[in-house]
Amino acid sequence: MARLSLLALLATIAMAGASGVLASSDAAQALEAADVDEAGNVMQYINSVFGDEDDDDYSEEELARRDLMRRGKHHHKHSRKTKGKQHFTIGTDDSDQLWDDAVKITWYASNDLKNPQCGNGGGKWQPENSSHIGAVVKGWDNGPQCGDFVKLCNKKADNKCVKVRVIDKCAGCKKGHVDLTKSAFKKLAPSGTLNEGVVENLQMYKTYKPNPWDIALFGPKLLQALNN
Ligand SMILES: *[C@@H]1O[C@H](CO)[C@@H](O)[C@H](O)[C@H]1NC(C)=O
Repeated sequence: MARLSLLALLATIAMAGASGVLASSDAAQALEAADVDEAGNVMQYINSVFGDEDDDDYSEEELARRDLMRRGKHHHKHSRKTKGKQHFTIGTDDSDQLWDDAVKITWYASNDLKNPQCGNGGGKWQPENSSHIGAVVKGWDNGPQCGDFVKLCNKKADNKCVKVRVIDKCAGCKKGHVDLTKSAFKKLAPSGTLNEGVVENLQMYKTYKPNPWDIALFGPKLLQALNN
């Protein structure tokens, strides 16, 4: 649907421009709204509020309350598809491109996640244990930069892959090391827990933006506020 609707939108703008139906600012707004992913699909932004449901910081009651909230006041923001979504895949997509084949992962949590160095949308958002974000060393040439999405996979953890957004700098890391939230780390650890502490020899891929994009998992599109 998305590729077609984008074309339709552009055609509408072109026609409106030619016939003078839309003021030019309307046309500019419509163009700006045509925010698409790498496959040409119109981007959808949602906010699940809590991020990854698998994160073990949440009790059964909290998960149940979140479910109610989704069906209640935030109803319009969520599709049924986001409910109970597993935030990993088995293996990669055709569009994923190998970036590094021996990446090390560790995890960090709580206050260390706050105020990431790539920005937090001008204070509008803070990463949580249940977000899917990561930190890398500053100056990893040809490595992921602020705001980039990477897909990390571990063949030794049932070939699970997790998409994370790099939004922070890791002072104690070298190239080839990604420091992750607990919820992302656990998907990639063979034990499915935090027990390993460090896991090595993962594959890292360049990957498409997530679509729909859950702000609770990945933060706002613009990490730096426009007036920064
Ligand atoms: C985040 O994880 C840390 C470390 O396990 C834990 O102490 C903290 O309570 C968690 N935060 C929340 C909000 O659950």
